[in-house]
Amino acid sequence: MREDEQGKVFQDPYALSLLPEARVMLIKQSLGGCDEDISQALQNIPFASQVLSRSAFVEKEFTASGGAQYVQYGSGLDSFCLRHPEGKNFEMDRPAMMAFKKEQLLRIQGKLPEQTVFIPIDVLMQDAYEVVVNHGFMDQEKSFHCLMGLLMYCRPEEVEQLFLLLSKLCVSGSEVVFDCFDETTFSDQNSTPGFKQWLAQGKLTGEVFQSLWSKKQLERLALEQGFSMKTYLDPSKIEQLYFSQGENAYHACEHVQYVKFMKL
Ligand SMILES: C[S@@+](CC[C@H](N)C(=O)[O-])C[C@H]1O[C@@H](n2cnc3c(N)ncnc32)[C@H](O)[C@@H]1O
Repeated sequence: MREDEQGKVFQDPYALSLLPEARVMLIKQSLGGCDEDISQALQNIPFASQVLSRSAFVEKEFTASGGAQYVQYGSGLDSFCLRHPEGKNFEMDRPAMMAFKKEQLLRIQGKLPEQTVFIPIDVLMQDAYEVVVNHGFMDQEKSFHCLMGLLMYCRPEEVEQLFLLLSKLCVSGSEVVFDCFDETTFSDQNSTPGFKQWLAQGKLTGEVFQSLWSKKQLERLALEQGFSMKTYLDPSKIEQLYFSQGENAYHACEHVQYVKFMKL
């Protein structure tokens, strides 16, 4: 897949409305003005293209999986629950974020999506497995787990802990998708100024990136927890798949890899 028939990498009709108006104004201001159309300014921000292509990646992999139980870890303001009203799905995030998201969903829809189970939880809690199963997750059925935008904030040992949890929740054939930084993220002298600024900004806002993964380390992680690595996209492959034909300035985010594991 490159782009859809309208030339877009990913269309999300709910993304902006999930944000409170004041926040949208702040974003517009930080991008250099209150212009109605912020899409031009967004193209220069690594984070924006990263959100676009990771959403497109998940959508494609989930559709190909045949629509198993869908579970999101650190769901944030992702709009899957609005875009997919067809099947039961689970969202996990820390309690404050979960409460904020429910507020936004109520504001724009007047009710919460019926098919979504919202679980306010720190996914690194020791009893996360029991909590998920007690909320109706069926651990004997195939499932699809999305950890997009989460692992980079976890230390290596926390990532391993998460995969221990996933290994318990997944029956054979279940899939896990995630993104993570590669091993040269902090040391690459050729990183663009925009990317370096993104890393630096993360430190200021407390969004510190905590773990880097080489392809070899990912393969080892998969094997140790009973998975095999089915999809591995490095930035050049992501560029080719999602951004090579666009008439815009979006590009794959440097050093970010997209991965799918399947439970053996
Ligand atoms: C960058 S956002 C990603 C949101 C969404 N998954 C996406 O792809 O757009 C990261 C989210 O992970 C959540 N998060 C971080 N650490 C977490 C933890 N230990 N347990 C639960 N949620 C966590 C944050 O609250 C935040 O909403």
